[in-house]
Amino acid sequence: MNTSQQGKTFEFDVLVIGSGLAGLHYCMQMIRLQPNIRIALISKTNADECNSRYAQGGIASVSMPEDSLESHISDTLDSGDGLCYAPTVECMIRQAPSAIKQLQDYPIQFSETLAKEGGHSHRRIFNCGDQTGLTIIETILESVRLQPQIHLFEDHIAVNLITHYHPHRTDNQGEVLGAYILDCTHNRIHTFVSKSVVLATGGAGKTYRYTTNPMVATGDGVAMAYRAGARVGNMEFYQFHPTLLHHHSLNNFLISEAVRGEGGLLKNADTGARFMAQYAPEQLELATRDVVSRAIFNEMEQSHHNFVYLDITHQSKAFLKKRFPQIYTTLISIGIDMSQDMIPVVPAAHYQCGGILTDVDGRTDLKRLYAIGEVAFTGLHGANRLASNSLLETVVMASNAAHCTLNDISKPCKAWDAIPTWNSPREVNARRASQINAHWRSLRGEMTSYAGIVRTEAGLYDLLQLIERRHKIIDEYYWKHCITRDFIELRNIVLNAELIVRAALARRESRGGHFREDFPQKNTRAQESIASLNANPLL
Ligand code: FAD
Ligand code: SIN
Repeated sequence: MNTSQQGKTFEFDVLVIGSGLAGLHYCMQMIRLQPNIRIALISKTNADECNSRYAQGGIASVSMPEDSLESHISDTLDSGDGLCYAPTVECMIRQAPSAIKQLQDYPIQFSETLAKEGGHSHRRIFNCGDQTGLTIIETILESVRLQPQIHLFEDHIAVNLITHYHPHRTDNQGEVLGAYILDCTHNRIHTFVSKSVVLATGGAGKTYRYTTNPMVATGDGVAMAYRAGARVGNMEFYQFHPTLLHHHSLNNFLISEAVRGEGGLLKNADTGARFMAQYAPEQLELATRDVVSRAIFNEMEQSHHNFVYLDITHQSKAFLKKRFPQIYTTLISIGIDMSQDMIPVVPAAHYQCGGILTDVDGRTDLKRLYAIGEVAFTGLHGANRLASNSLLETVVMASNAAHCTLNDISKPCKAWDAIPTWNSPREVNARRASQINAHWRSLRGEMTSYAGIVRTEAGLYDLLQLIERRHKIIDEYYWKHCITRDFIELRNIVLNAELIVRAALARRESRGGHFREDFPQKNTRAQESIASLNANPLL
C-alpha cells in the first residue's frame, strides 16, 4: 500500500533543533537580544530528555585565588593530547566566568563547594550536588515554556536539512533554508523554513552498546550536516567515561568522576588491589579519562570479571548522602550501600569530541547553519575532553551564536520560494520494528567490540565491511518507504558509525581517546581528521 507523509509548511525566524542546554540557552539568549523574534524549538521526545539533563559533575570555571585561567587552559591542552585548537581553548575558558554568571541569572544556585575531577589541577567545578544537569535543564525549560516567542514542538524529529546551492556561484557554499521534520504523533513530515537553523542535537552515544547517554543521542545533527555538505571532523575520538555502573537492571547510570575527586579508588575485581599506580603513577585515579578507561579495560581483560570496583567506603555515610544524593539513593535501590560496598563499574561511550566543524560562535561551512554544544567540533577538546568542559562549551557557544544569528535574521532569504514539500508517495511498513531493532542492536555491539577503547586495523576493516552492507540496505529502504523515528535514528547511527570507523582506520597512531594496538606510538605531528561529502569524501 502506498501513502504520503506530506505535512504543512511553517515559517519562523530561527529553527532550533534540540532542547538540551545548548538549544534552551540559545533560545533564551536570543529573545533577550531580539524580543520580537519567532523561534521554533524542535525536540524529538520530551523537551527535557537530553544528555544535559544527566550531567552530574558540573561545569568548569576558574574562581579560586590559588587557581588561574592559565592553569585551566593548560589542563585542557594536556587532556586534548596535542589536538586542541589553542585559540578556541583560550577563548572558551576566558568566557567561563561569564557563562557561570548567565546560569546564575536564571537563577541556578550552585553549591558552595567546588568539585575536583580528573585532569584538573584545582577544584574548579561548579555543581548542584550530583544533579547539576537536572537542576539546570528544569530551571531553563520552565522559563522557555513561558515565552510566547518560542514555539516548542515535542515528539518531532528532524529528518534532513533543506539546502540550496546557487548554480552560478563559484564558491559552492550551500545555504540552509530549513528542515524536514517528522511529527511522530501524527506521522506527517512538515517543512520548516527559517532564516537561520541551529543544530543543538547533542552526541551519538547510542552508536555503542554501553553508553552513559539516553536514547535520544543518535548523532542526528552530524548525519544531517554531513549529508548537507558541511565538514565533520575528529569523529574517531569518542570519549569513554571510566565509570558507568555495571548492573543488569540499570544500564546507563553514571557514577560521577567527582566520586574519584572525593577519594574513590579503583580496584581489580579478582584481587581487590588498586591498579592505577601502574598506569598513571602521579595522577592515579584522577588521570584523564582516556588513561583511566584504558587501564580499566586492561584490568578487565586480565581478570575473570567484566567490571572493576570503585571503592569510596572510607567516606562516611553522612558525607556521601549529602555530596552524592542521587548516586547514593540509586545505588541503595539496587542493594549497594556505597558507604560499605564497592561499586562495580565499566567504561562506556560518553562524549563525542569531534563533530560538525564550527568556530566558537557555532558557524558551520554552510550559510545560515549553526551547530552548538556537543554536536559541534570547535577544537576545545582535542583528542580527549577534560571533565566538565562540555557544559561550559555549550553555554558559551549558545550565547555567542545568539549574537551571530541576529545578522541572518535581518537578511531576507530569496531561495524560500523554491522549497519543495515532502510529498513522495512511499510504501508502508515494509520492515517490522523488530527488524530495525535487530540492525541497531547488532551495530552497537560491533562498534563496542571493534571501534571501542582498543582498536586494530583488522578489526576496524571487518567492521567497515559490516557497516557498508547495512548502509546500503538502509539507504535503499529510506528512498522507498514511509519513515519512522526509529528508522531515521538507525540511518543516522549507521552514518556516524561509518564516519567514526573510517577516521579510526585512517589514524595510524594512538592519541587521546583513540588507541590503536597496532600503532601504539603517537605521530610527531598532530593532525585533525576532516571528512566532507563535497571536498574530501570519506564515504
Ligand atoms: P543534549 O543535552 O544531548 O541535547 C540534545 C537535544 O537534541 C535533545 O533534546 C534531543 O532530543 C534533541 N535531538 C537530537 N536529535 C534530534 C532530531 N533529529 N530532531 C529533534 N531533536 C533532536 N558535561 C560536563 O561538562 N559536565 C558534566 O558533569 C557532565 N556529565 C555528564 C553526565 C552524563 C550521564 C552525560 C550523558 C553527559 C555528561 N556531560 C557532562 C556531557 C554534557 O552533558 C553534554 O555534552 C552536554 O550537555 C550537551 O548538551 P547539548 O545541548 O549539546 O546536547
Ligand atoms: C561526571 O560527572 O563524571 C561527568 C563529567 C563530564 O562528563 O564532564
